[in-house]
Amino acid sequence: MRKSSVRKAIIPAAGMGTRFLPITRAQPKEMLPVVDKPVIQYVVEEAISSGIEDILIITGRGKRAIEDHFDISCELERKLKQNKDSRQFDEDRQISSMADIHYIRQKEQLGLGNAILHAEKHCDDEPFAVLLGDTITIPFKGEKSCTNQMIDSYNKYHSSIIAVEMVARKKIKDYGIIDGNELEDGIYSIKDIIEKPKPENAPSNLGAIGRYVLTPDIFDLLKDTKPGHGDEIQLTDALRKLNRPIGLVTKCRRYDIGDKLGWMKSSIELCLEREEFAEELRAFLNTLNCSEKMA
Ligand code: G1P
Repeated sequence: MRKSSVRKAIIPAAGMGTRFLPITRAQPKEMLPVVDKPVIQYVVEEAISSGIEDILIITGRGKRAIEDHFDISCELERKLKQNKDSRQFDEDRQISSMADIHYIRQKEQLGLGNAILHAEKHCDDEPFAVLLGDTITIPFKGEKSCTNQMIDSYNKYHSSIIAVEMVARKKIKDYGIIDGNELEDGIYSIKDIIEKPKPENAPSNLGAIGRYVLTPDIFDLLKDTKPGHGDEIQLTDALRKLNRPIGLVTKCRRYDIGDKLGWMKSSIELCLEREEFAEELRAFLNTLNCSEKMA
């Protein structure tokens, strides 16, 4: 694979998952299954398919299942060998040898900005991608991965890149919302970004979707950032001090898995895209349509 100008990715996965209680009491939201893979595997695969060689996952208490997932399971491998299931064996090995994955713990839940600050030493003054561990992106047909599209924009503009998309008015309160001038179709020069504003105070309806390419100057800005929305250190509050970052409307679908409905939609849509499930699931969904009409 061609060497990328952005070699490192940070995957914050330390959040408590309060929007998905009660399942997240003892289960990391990043480990929720979507079809047959946990969410975080989609995220790691996106990073790797974008040419990233080195991944740092920021975890916290109760997130050990993430490390176990990407580790070698000797017992399972032994069993698969005994069963002579070489396809399953290869698939299992592939998961544990995906990339160089490193882990660091955020010991206190002080917010996304504070989580990213844990990556400073690891990034070693290089630009890096941030992929939120509870968000799946699927590129439109024929397009590169979301992170790859962002790296291309980074190479063009040499500025930090924030992936954005239009969000419904009632959802504005859940996102970092940008204020910007459109430079080209789907590309904005960002003047400001506000974390989770009320719709009446929002400068636009373009919300950050959880994918960023950042320059290392973000770390000093984060160190100077005081707790903001929700009394947490917000990445958004550091981003607004950057010199004109770029907002990019990426050519991809995005699912917010931290949200119950977002998770359900992702499971259904991605199942419909799998040949082995599509026909039966479609037939099943049609029966639901019928009973709705009858009700
Ligand atoms: C975070 C960011 C927010 C961004 C969102 C995307 O919020 O703080 O700016 O729009 O991710 O999912 P969270 O969803 O972690 O509360």
